[in-house]
Amino acid sequence: IKKIAILTSGGDAPGMNAAIRAVVRSALDKGLDVYGIYEGYRGLHQNKIKQLTRYSVSDIINKGGTFLGSARFPEFKDPAVRTECAEVLRSHGIDALVVIGGDGSYTGAKLLTEEHGFPCIGLPGTIDNDIPGTDYTIGYQTALETAVVCIDRLRDTSSSHHRISIVEIMGRHCSDLTLSAAIAGGCEYAIAAEIGFNKEELIQEIESSFAKGKNHALIVITELVTDVHQLAKDIEARVGNETRATVLGHIQRGGTPSAFDRILASRMGVYAVDLLLQGEKGRCVGIQNEKLVHHDIIDAIDNMRRPFKADLLDVANKLV
Ligand code: F6P
Repeated sequence: IKKIAILTSGGDAPGMNAAIRAVVRSALDKGLDVYGIYEGYRGLHQNKIKQLTRYSVSDIINKGGTFLGSARFPEFKDPAVRTECAEVLRSHGIDALVVIGGDGSYTGAKLLTEEHGFPCIGLPGTIDNDIPGTDYTIGYQTALETAVVCIDRLRDTSSSHHRISIVEIMGRHCSDLTLSAAIAGGCEYAIAAEIGFNKEELIQEIESSFAKGKNHALIVITELVTDVHQLAKDIEARVGNETRATVLGHIQRGGTPSAFDRILASRMGVYAVDLLLQGEKGRCVGIQNEKLVHHDIIDAIDNMRRPFKADLLDVANKLV
């Protein structure tokens, strides 16, 4: 391997820049040429590729987002588009690719490896913490801190006004962010995507705690479970207290990466280059029990599951 490329794909996550920097600098140290692909798989298809130097990645370790840009590119599902992308890589003499992103990005890397024999290594970059084969994804811890800061602020105003606040948290079908934020934010109710909820039971619980003297409450809920604004109306109609829903949304994706995410991203980036130089391909990097590990990317997508963290829900429920 002489020339490697790197791209970030899917939703951006704080720490992606630290990962890019680590890949670029460690690859250069090993005598490789490094190319940055701008705007994910879409940019690859459009040949948006530039050679990077160690100075291309100066002053980015502390920056959120990804300086390479990212995109969602559903067209990559078309095998003809993937063949064109492989040709673009070959036209630059690039012989390996590091992909930083979530499960969609991994699927892209898997297909490039499977269909075109192209050595790809995946790094888990998403705030959702929903990637199999790793305890933590790059960006998750920062997004969690952001969510908790927002919950603390909502607590101030909900308590002053004796209101009920519903806070919608990102994560798609994974509730790690929701449940961890519920514990750290001291929230009264946590609703996880994996479990769902019974609206009637929730309202009855709120009614009974308000009857006992409670005068405000925080409810955290994973996105896509229900329409939180409608839920606010339904709660207010029954309980009587004003109820507001706040969708944290993309606020959770931005911001300065935490030290944890910078270190995780740096370690994973260096490890990815080492794996490529050892001749590994079609692997994805993770951290499990504090150790860097790698798994077959195909296995990770098709067979490995991330178990629901029932213990987090249990702790959240016990501390109300
Ligand atoms: O995967 C990261 C994530 O932020 C999810 O939590 C969320 O469902 C989705 O991306 C939002 O995607 P978009 O930025 O395309 O609206």
